[in-house]
Amino acid sequence: MTDFDDLVDPDRGWNSPRIYTDPELYERELEHVFGRTWLFLAHDSQLPEPGSFIQTYMAEDPVLVVRQRDGSVKAFLNQCRHRGMRICRSDAGVSKTFTCTYHGWAYDLEGNLINVPLEERAYHHQIDKSEWGALKVPRIANYKGFYFGTWSEETPEFDEYLGDMAFIFDAVVDRFDGGLELAPGTTKWVIDCNWKFAAEQFASDMYHAPVSHASAHMALTDDPNFPSPFTDTAMPGRQFAGNGHGAGGFFLPMVVEPPTNEFRQETYEWLLSREEEVVRRIGDRARKVGNHNTIFPTFSWLSGGGLQTMRVWHPRGPGSIEVWAWSYLPKDAPPSVKADMRRWTQRTFSPAGAFETDDGENWTEVQQVLRGFKARQNRFHTGMGLGFEERDVHGIPGVSNDLYAETAARGFYRRWRDLVTGKPWSEIQKTDRSDAGPLAEKV
Ligand code: FES
Ligand code: FE
Repeated sequence: MTDFDDLVDPDRGWNSPRIYTDPELYERELEHVFGRTWLFLAHDSQLPEPGSFIQTYMAEDPVLVVRQRDGSVKAFLNQCRHRGMRICRSDAGVSKTFTCTYHGWAYDLEGNLINVPLEERAYHHQIDKSEWGALKVPRIANYKGFYFGTWSEETPEFDEYLGDMAFIFDAVVDRFDGGLELAPGTTKWVIDCNWKFAAEQFASDMYHAPVSHASAHMALTDDPNFPSPFTDTAMPGRQFAGNGHGAGGFFLPMVVEPPTNEFRQETYEWLLSREEEVVRRIGDRARKVGNHNTIFPTFSWLSGGGLQTMRVWHPRGPGSIEVWAWSYLPKDAPPSVKADMRRWTQRTFSPAGAFETDDGENWTEVQQVLRGFKARQNRFHTGMGLGFEERDVHGIPGVSNDLYAETAARGFYRRWRDLVTGKPWSEIQKTDRSDAGPLAEKV
């Protein structure tokens, strides 16, 4: 049986390696973490018309997310109530109904069972179809076109759950008058590592960039002298932490970074033409927040430096994840600019992206080492910047620290511990806005 006291200590700054490998703990995560948090389902642009659907996952559970006739979005477990086959096997499309390919039970756009073959002969009209619909995702939040779902009635409303992280998320989603879209298609791949390595890194870890990505940066840049973490370890920046979410970004002297590679000249000029609009919409955040970001538990994105990837780290057992990634694009940009942005994302953060492969290599290697018995005995250090947290400084709401810190990692693991141990949300909420732990009370 798992000893919960010996898993993580965000107040002192250590983790047990077992949290990345223990199958029993993983089962608890599926129920208590993924069953009780808001999980990203889809963006408006993926569901353009009534009947539009995508198949995705809430952790390991397959769900269908469907645009209804009234324009709302609903979701239900993609599992037939007869023998459990997927109701729909397509990744995405437009449909009026969903018919199970095993024996033909059919469901409507909300997941209600509407037809069973041979109802008279086989069931003698004794099946009450209203009782045998698909399991519905009971709560869906639409945050500026981004749909999140939770199975739990107990989870706080999405705005409350997001807390101060809204300030960071808004800097991306509110950036342009025309809004965002996700480029069509989902890039999917498997990385053999625990989901927390990826989610925590995007929440908290700029520290790895100058080391892990040094060679990729050299290979891709045309301007090695442009200010970057690779050339200037004194570049100012802050890390934000709140409600288990995390983000970190540099403070740049300009809103639009000049192109540092062959692709971005036209894109640069288009972005420059939108500079006033961006500043009007998000103010000072335009040049200073959120290069790396995670909304707890598994929704992450990158921004700045031409990076425009959003992704979910779907867990697949304690030692594996399926990454589902999209390029997010300004909806009203010309096609050539969008194409340039997509290409740059592909070259940097995609299965073959120069930076992505650096990260994946680290995570799979760590997971591989954890196969060793001895390798799972010693604690990992998560104490960077412990005690140097500040509150409501540099125009950033909530708790933040220097960019090179692990405040957001500690907040991530505090939230994870509270959830996985089954603490009720009413208790967990008492610690919101205090991701620096007890030290936050001093600031
Ligand atoms: Fe779906 Fe039998 S499993 S109809
Ligand atoms: Fe990285």
